[in-house]
Amino acid sequence: MPAKAACAGGGEIMIYYSPVMAEENKSSLDALSALAKRRGFIYHSSEIYGGMPGFWDYGPLGCELKQNVKAAWWQFTVRGREDVAGLDATIIMHPKIWKASGHLDTFADPMTMCKDCKKLMRADQIKDIYAEQRKKPQPKVPGSDFFCPHCGGELTEPKPFNLMFKTIVGPIDDPSNVAYLRPETAQAIFAQFLNVLATSRQAVPFGIAQMGKSFRNEVTPRNYIFRSREFEQMELEFFIRPDEAVELLHGHVVTLADNPDLNGPVQDDWGWEVWHKYWVEQRKKFLNAVGLPTERFVEYWQKPDELAHYARACVDIEYDFPFGRQELEGIAARSDFDLTQHQKHSGVPQTVFDDPLKQAAKKLDDAAKAAFIAKVQADWVARGKDALAAEKFCRDLFDGKYVPHVIEPSAGVDRLMLALLCEAYEEQTLKDEKGKDDVRTVLHFSPKVAPVKAAIFPLIKKDEAQMKFARDLFEKLRRKVNVQWDVSGAIGRRYRRQDEAGTPWCITVDAQTVEDGTFTVRERDSMAQTRMTYEQFLAMMYAALEF
Ligand code: GAP
Repeated sequence: MPAKAACAGGGEIMIYYSPVMAEENKSSLDALSALAKRRGFIYHSSEIYGGMPGFWDYGPLGCELKQNVKAAWWQFTVRGREDVAGLDATIIMHPKIWKASGHLDTFADPMTMCKDCKKLMRADQIKDIYAEQRKKPQPKVPGSDFFCPHCGGELTEPKPFNLMFKTIVGPIDDPSNVAYLRPETAQAIFAQFLNVLATSRQAVPFGIAQMGKSFRNEVTPRNYIFRSREFEQMELEFFIRPDEAVELLHGHVVTLADNPDLNGPVQDDWGWEVWHKYWVEQRKKFLNAVGLPTERFVEYWQKPDELAHYARACVDIEYDFPFGRQELEGIAARSDFDLTQHQKHSGVPQTVFDDPLKQAAKKLDDAAKAAFIAKVQADWVARGKDALAAEKFCRDLFDGKYVPHVIEPSAGVDRLMLALLCEAYEEQTLKDEKGKDDVRTVLHFSPKVAPVKAAIFPLIKKDEAQMKFARDLFEKLRRKVNVQWDVSGAIGRRYRRQDEAGTPWCITVDAQTVEDGTFTVRERDSMAQTRMTYEQFLAMMYAALEF
């Protein structure tokens, strides 16, 4: 059934809108990127010089959207919790950090080159490029199944290509001065772990969050802002006790089999797998809150043979982008790998002192301690680890010392922005008052991330009283949220401009406003208009913006 909505002129238009149509109209990347360019969301970097592959700029609406996405993440992850502290570290750090983290030796993609057309590409993406092509070229070497997807030419043997951007620090261009632009924000969190612990009045379990630029010299940046060479990440390293410490402290470890309540307050006796699942659920809640419905993304639990050697579990949250289902963000249980690596490479112990743990251990007699060690040794040996190391680890636990383990929810700002744009974009076919088809392009952003929260329209420009009221309202509101002022064209055209920007509310000041102070608020998705006072509008707006 068509929905009804009041139109600006006071009559009614019919909206022929159904879920099926919304599905059909889901953005193609071309239509979306055209709108994003036209309305000032996203531009090619350095466009007047022909652009730079893998680099994108955000225009007036794009940078507002980006700020809102980041602010929402910070509110949800840091300020809204008592157990997470923030960090803002440098992009260039000591190169030894990247040796310790493994990025210097292993952060590489397999690169191949076509011997004929000289195009470079990632060997592991060639199948995807074949799949995307309507007409794939025939191999120039008959019978070959590994050939250039662009011209059919012969490809070179794939070689690892390190993705870190190199730079020189200081005036002397010497290998000893080589440094790297960070390929992830996470490592600075590990490198500053002890400082934050000492200055934040936090104790394990607690998290450190950081957001900011990361750089990867991607061989083939693809799919608009999905895979870029310069992008932003929002990462949380949430430090937890090793399960053995939880066991010692509480006499048990809560696992998923115990069916813990992941929606209630966090619990001190949770083991790593509960913490991991808890953060998967938190991330899904966040994605819902900023406008991605649960049914639009899937959890992909990496299989044991897909996991990095130090990881105990890793979940990718995948979204159905117009170019296929792809990773939006990941939540990894990384054991104590990172802090242990930095301890080894820096020589600075990364252990914490956990007094409740030491007090719990004091209560054990020698027999109980020996039984505890034997149990941990059996578990470690079954996981291919060393029995002597297990004993040393247990004796440190008895002293209240351990290297914390970590759960890492890691998200890309730009990738989330792309998902939000894809999710928000819709072309609706409406009927105008004469019954003619009229296409409305609208971005259904959640008010929490919408670049502009409200637009103010005086109905009649020549009416001084209306103009004054509208201008005063605009000045009052702009001190609170991002609002736009628009006096040009018919009200219907002004609505459409704001629909394309994703503005949730349009406020029209008319003759009645001057008499009684109420104005019409037109809601973007339903197009319904309601008369409200300023106070009523503020209450409604703040309720929609709150997390
Ligand atoms: N610290 C863990 C880490 O960096 P990752 O899976 O390599 O893990 C995390 O990256 C997130 O960062 C990804 O899920 C994605 O959202 C974003 N990301 C990674 N590479 C990106 C790129 N080249 N362009 C845009 N976003 C990227």
